[in-house]
Amino acid sequence: MISYTLLEFDSLSSTSDFLKENQSYFPHMTFIRANHQTQGRGQFDRMWQSEANQNILCSILLKEINISKASLIKLWIMESLIGYLQRLGINAMFKEPNDIYVGDDKLCGILIETKSTENEFDFVVIGIGLNVNQMTFERANATSLKKILHQEFDLNKLFSSFLDYMIQAYERYDL
Ligand code: BTN
Repeated sequence: MISYTLLEFDSLSSTSDFLKENQSYFPHMTFIRANHQTQGRGQFDRMWQSEANQNILCSILLKEINISKASLIKLWIMESLIGYLQRLGINAMFKEPNDIYVGDDKLCGILIETKSTENEFDFVVIGIGLNVNQMTFERANATSLKKILHQEFDLNKLFSSFLDYMIQAYERYDL
C-alpha cells in the first residue's frame, strides 16, 4: 500500500493555503485536515464557509506529476468521493466544474490548484470540503450527510474510513 503523511489541526486559515505555503517540507501524498478554517476558500475566489467541528475539511498534496495526468487526478478524487458516498447509501453526482451534488443540492466542493513547470506539475493541492453534520447553510442549495441520512457522524471515524477508501482507489490509478 502506498505510504502517506497525515497532519490534523484544530484550526487553520485554510488547509489548502497551509499546504501550498509549506509544500516544500512535505512529501507526495500528504493529507492535511482541520476541524475549522478561518479563511476557507472555494472556486472562483469565493469563501468556503463551514461551521467549526461539523464537516470534513482536508487538502491533499501530490508532487511531481506529469501534466498529462491532470484528468486522472480529477477522476481519482471524483471516484473516491462518489464511491465512498455510495457506500453510505447516497446516490451522488459529479457536477462541473468540481462539485458533488445530491439532487439539486451541493454536498461537497473540490478545489484543485497546481503549480507547473514545462510538462510537470511541481505540485497539486486538492482541497475537499464535505458537509457532514452541519444542518443550516447560508447558500440555499446546500446539503450535508446528516440532512440526507438523518444521522450524526463521528468526524474522526468518517475521515479515517474515507482516507482508506481514497488510498485504495489511488492504487488503481497510474499517478
Ligand atoms: C468549491 O467552491 O466548491 C470548492 C470548495 C473547497 C473547500 C475546501 S475545504 C478544504 C480546502 N481548504 C480550503 O480553503 N478550501 C478547500
